[in-house]
Amino acid sequence: MSKSHSVWVSRPLFPEVLATLAQYVDVSVEPKESKRTPEQLRAKLAHVDGAIVGLGDRIDAGVLAGNRRLRAIANLGVGYNNLDVPALTAAGIVATNTPDVLTQTTADYAWALLLAAARRVCSAERWLRAGRWRGGMRFDDWLGVDVHGKTLGILGMGRIGQAVARRGAGFDMKVIYHNRSRLPDAVERECRAEWVEKSELLKRADHLVLVLPYNAQSHHAIGATELEHMKPTAVLVNIARGGIVDDAALAVALREGRLAAAGLDVFEGEPSVNPALRELDNAVLSPHIASASADTRRAMAQLAADNLLAALGHGPNAGHPPSLLNPEARGRRTGET
Ligand code: DGY
Repeated sequence: MSKSHSVWVSRPLFPEVLATLAQYVDVSVEPKESKRTPEQLRAKLAHVDGAIVGLGDRIDAGVLAGNRRLRAIANLGVGYNNLDVPALTAAGIVATNTPDVLTQTTADYAWALLLAAARRVCSAERWLRAGRWRGGMRFDDWLGVDVHGKTLGILGMGRIGQAVARRGAGFDMKVIYHNRSRLPDAVERECRAEWVEKSELLKRADHLVLVLPYNAQSHHAIGATELEHMKPTAVLVNIARGGIVDDAALAVALREGRLAAAGLDVFEGEPSVNPALRELDNAVLSPHIASASADTRRAMAQLAADNLLAALGHGPNAGHPPSLLNPEARGRRTGET
């Protein structure tokens, strides 16, 4: 029997999460993730009440133009730079994201990249797999840089930045951070982190992790000038968003040995990756998977589904999406709960 609301899901999701949605609404799911043009997105959203979308789906005023039906967009991710929230709000469309459920997993991954890049894990593995370990290895081959006991810099100190900082204690690290607003004293103490100016962060950090949201202000927050101020023995980790680092400038710094290594999970223009980065052995590269543990991705999908159902007035949170980004949008569309 057809239900009162229809939703579109822009990529395959866990069957149990789709089953939750299907209890309340008609669901159409794309068989695979793909980059869609604004026209394709407009067509997909024209005849549904809600949608679950991801980072590759840019929902802006152009995509929403002429849409009278859509009431809710649930983003699969804590970062939501793919959503034009003011445009959604103006159209009376509720927007949600998936905070908290991915904090610890994403922080773990920042450390995975930091350790892998600092200790050359991936290039050593490639070398071994290529059958090049034939004896005669020198004692000073494969030297990496230490992580323990060093100064960890964090740019962006929200939930994930704080979780990265807390892990620093286990590695005996001093933690310094820069954030637009300083954390309350109690949080700084708990994270054992000291606020510093960005220029000092770049100079003092032995390793630097980027965890800030992407917006016009953070575009190329790490570019050629910033890279020049970093230590040549430093590792740079980006688990935040492509565009925060100037990837071309980073490739030059890595190639010229002005930075020891980088661990990158996000890229400018991903899924394309700057070819210069792909050629570098001192860059550890992964396809935007920092939140990709089975438990966490399932929790993110479930939260997105809960948000969407609630925004459409269904389920245990009916009318109160757990992670609402634009409360001012509510009630602007006729018939909304
Ligand atoms: C997030 O949640 O923002 C992750 O980067 C996935 O997009």
